[in-house]
Amino acid sequence: MSDSDGAAIGVIGGSGFYSLLDGITEVAVDTPYGAPSDKLLIGELAGRRVAFLPRHGRSHSLPPHRINYRANLWALRAVGVRQVVAPCATGGLRPEFGPGTLVVPDQLVDRTYGREQTFYDGEPRADGLRPNVVHIPLADPYCPAGRQQAVAVARRAGWEPQDGGTLVVIQGPRFSTRAESRWHAAQGWSVVGMTGYPEATLARELGLCYTSIAMVTDLDAGVEVGEGVTHEEVLKVFSENIERLRTVILDLVTELPAERNCLCSKALDGVDTGLLLP
Ligand code: ADE
Repeated sequence: MSDSDGAAIGVIGGSGFYSLLDGITEVAVDTPYGAPSDKLLIGELAGRRVAFLPRHGRSHSLPPHRINYRANLWALRAVGVRQVVAPCATGGLRPEFGPGTLVVPDQLVDRTYGREQTFYDGEPRADGLRPNVVHIPLADPYCPAGRQQAVAVARRAGWEPQDGGTLVVIQGPRFSTRAESRWHAAQGWSVVGMTGYPEATLARELGLCYTSIAMVTDLDAGVEVGEGVTHEEVLKVFSENIERLRTVILDLVTELPAERNCLCSKALDGVDTGLLLP
C-alpha cells in the first residue's frame, strides 16, 4: 500500500449506504483476523482522506451476526484511520422517535452474543512474554468530539437530531419480539439496532474515535401498533433518507477536528497491548 492509499477518517456504512466518495481507489486489506466486509474505498473529500467500508459488503451479503467486526476495525486502522463515523439503521423505542429521526447516541447496551468482541483475547504476545489480557474502559463508548460535531452538522442540515440516547444492540438477524421491544423501551433506551456492537468497543480497543449516527427507519414492535417491523420497511425508509444522511456524513467527515484530544485518542496511553498495532 502506498502512502496515498492511507486515510485519516473511516466511514462504516449502514444498510443501503454503499456509495459515498467520487473518484475512489479500492484497497484490499488483509488482517490477522481475516478479511473485512469488503475492499476499502479510499478517496479525498475537502482535503481529508476518507476510507469507506460497506459494513454488510457491497452486495449486502453479510447479516449483522456474520460481520467480521475485528477485521473491519483493524483494516481501517491499517490504512491510517483514527476517526470512525458509523451510520446505522435503527428502530425507534419511543413513539416520538419515528422513521426519519436521527439519534446521535451517547450510550450503548450490548445484547449480542457469540460475536468476536475483543482484540485482547489472551493470545500469546508477539514477543512471547505474557498473554495479552487488557481491560479497556468503555464507560462513555462514543467520541465526545465526534458526537458534538455530528449534532452540529445535522442541525445545520435542518435535521433536528436527538443529542444523546441509548442504542441497544440485539443479536439479530430477526427483529425483536413485542415483549423484548417493550422491555427495551421500559429501560428508557432510545433506539435498537444490530451492528453497533462490537464496533464501538473494538474501535476503543484500537484507540480510534467512534461516532454512531443512528437513523430511525421504523418504530420497533413494542411501540408501533401494526404487524411489526419488516426488512422492506427498513430499506425503504433508509433509501428515502439517504441523501440527507449523505450530506450529514460528508459534512461531518470534513469537519471532524484534525487534532484529536479526546478520551478515545488516549485510550491506549500507557497500555501494554501486546499487539503489533498497524
Ligand atoms: N434496524 C432497523 N430497524 C431495526 C429494528 N426495529 N430492530 C433492530 N434493528 C433495526
